[in-house]
Amino acid sequence: MLRHEVVVVGAGLAGQRAALAAVQAGRDVAIVTKLHPLRSHSGAAQGGINAAIGVNDSIDAHIFDTVKGSDYLGDQDAIEFFCKEAGPTVIEMEHFGTIFSRTDDGSLAQRPFGGAGFPRTVYAADRTGLALLQGLWEQLGSQRFTLYEEWELARVVVREGRVQGIVALDKKTGEFQQVAAKAVIIATGGAGRIYGRSTNAHSCTGDGAAAAYNAGAFLKDMEFVQFHPTALLEGGILVTEGARGEGGILKNASGERFMTKYAPKVLELASRDVVARAITTEILEGRGFTGPYGPYVHLELMHLGKEKIESRLQEICDLCRSFAGMDPVTDPIPISPAQHYMMGGVGTNIPGETNVPGLYAAGEAACVSIHGANRLGGNSLMETLVFGKSAGAAAAAYAAKAPATTLQPSDLDEVTATYRTWFGRTDGEDPSAIRTELQQTMDRYVNLFRIEADLTEGLRRVRAVKERFSRVRVVDQSKVFNINLSDAIETEHMIDLAEVIIVGAIARTESRGAHFRKDYPKRDDKNWMKHTLALRTPSGPALSYSPVAFTRWEPKERVY
Ligand code: FUM
Repeated sequence: MLRHEVVVVGAGLAGQRAALAAVQAGRDVAIVTKLHPLRSHSGAAQGGINAAIGVNDSIDAHIFDTVKGSDYLGDQDAIEFFCKEAGPTVIEMEHFGTIFSRTDDGSLAQRPFGGAGFPRTVYAADRTGLALLQGLWEQLGSQRFTLYEEWELARVVVREGRVQGIVALDKKTGEFQQVAAKAVIIATGGAGRIYGRSTNAHSCTGDGAAAAYNAGAFLKDMEFVQFHPTALLEGGILVTEGARGEGGILKNASGERFMTKYAPKVLELASRDVVARAITTEILEGRGFTGPYGPYVHLELMHLGKEKIESRLQEICDLCRSFAGMDPVTDPIPISPAQHYMMGGVGTNIPGETNVPGLYAAGEAACVSIHGANRLGGNSLMETLVFGKSAGAAAAAYAAKAPATTLQPSDLDEVTATYRTWFGRTDGEDPSAIRTELQQTMDRYVNLFRIEADLTEGLRRVRAVKERFSRVRVVDQSKVFNINLSDAIETEHMIDLAEVIIVGAIARTESRGAHFRKDYPKRDDKNWMKHTLALRTPSGPALSYSPVAFTRWEPKERVY
C-alpha cells in the first residue's frame, strides 16, 4: 500500500503551493491529480491577480473592497490576513519566474477590475493563471515529492475521528489505489460543471469538496454561485473582466450603454454579481440580441484600438477569432453571463483546517471565507497561493505529530465495493445522461435570479436524479482510461454538491451578493448575517449556521 505523510489532492495553483510548503517543512508529500499539473483549471484564469502594491493603493483599500464585494459575508479576519499576504505573494511569484506584464518603467503593470477602487490587478496579458502555474511548477519541480498523475479521487477515508488516507482511481490502469496519509489537503478547485453553461473546464466536478462532505466535513456557503458577466457562445467561454478593465463597454440591442442605469459611478467595473444581473435584466426585458446560441448583449472593445486589444487581450482575440468567427478589433463580442466560480466550499479556518482532524482544504474547493456572497475578480488566483501555502504548512505541522494511519491493504475492498456494483449491473442508468439532466436542471432552476418555486422544483429534480443514480451502471468494462467509470464517479460528486447548493438557497430567504432571490430582494442582516454550514446525513444535507467574523467594517448598503 502506498504511504505518505501529506497527500495533496489537486495540482492547480492551490495544490502546488500547498505541496511546496509541506515539502519545505520537511514532510514526505504526494500530489494526486486527475490532470497533468499544467493542465489544471488555474491555467484558464485570464485577467489577473490582486495585490495592493500600487503607489496610491493600500492594503486597507483592498480589505474594504473585498469586504464590500462579499456583501459583508466575508470573514474580516481572514480577509485582513489575505490582503496583507497579497503583496509579498505576488513578489514571490515574480521571483519564482512568473513573467508578468510590465509598465514602460519596468514596474509590474496593474489593471482595473470590477469592484476595486484602484487598478490592483497584476497580470500577464490575459493568460495570468497559466503564467503563474508555469512559474510555480518550475519551483515545485526542483523539490522532492511524488506525483500520482491521471488519478481521480474517489474517497477520503476517515476513521477513529481522523483522516487515514484516500482512495483514488488510477485512470491509466483502471485500478483503485489506496494511499495512506496522516494529512490530506483538498485542492481540487471548483464544481462549475454542475452547470451546463460554465466558464469552467470539464474537469471541474467538485471531487474534493464532495469527498470531504462524504467524510464528515462541513460544506460552507454553497448557495453562493458566481456567474461571470461576459461569456462567449453556448458553452460559456470566459471573456476576461480584464476586457472591461482595459476600457471595454457593454451595450444592449438599442445601442444603449446600459450600465449607466445599474452602476452609475463605476459602470462596467461594478462588482461581478451586479454586472451579471444587469446583463440578464436587459436580456429578460427584451433589450438583448437574439442569436443561434441564445440571447446576448455586446461587449465593445473596438474603440481601444488594434494595438492595445492585441497586446493586452491576446487570448480573447484568439478565442473570438477561433471559436466565434468574429474579430474584437472590428466587431462587438456577443456575450452573456455563465457560471464561473463557487464561493462556497469545504469550511476551513485561515490555516486551512476543517472540522475533521487531518483534513485541510485550499483554493476554490475551500471556503475560508474571504469571498462571502460574491468574489471580486482577481482575488481567486491570490487566494490559491495565500491559502495554499498556509494549508500546506499547517498540514505539515499536523503530520509531523500525528499518529500513524491505521489503514490496511484489506480496507480497499470495502471502499471500492460500490464501484464493483456499478460494473456488475446488467441494467441501469447511464451516468452521462444523468449528468446532462443535472446540468440542465441547475441551468434552468438554480441560476442567477432565484425564486422559491424554481428552487423547490430544482431540488425535486436533483433528488430524482440522485434516485436514478442509485441504479447507475458502468457498461464499459475496460481498464485503460475508462471514461464511463470516471463519469460515474464525478457525477455522484456533482449530485451531492448540487443538492447542498439548492437546500442552502431555499433556506436563505434574502438577497446577498450572488444569491439573488426575486421573492426576497433585500439583504437581511438581522436574520442572515451568518454562514450556512451543511453536514451530510442519510436523508440529505443538514443545515446549521455560524457567525461572520467582523474586525473593522460595519455592514453598509452596497452601491457601485
Ligand atoms: O475575468 C477574469 O479574468 C476572471 C478572473 C477571476 O475570476 O478572478
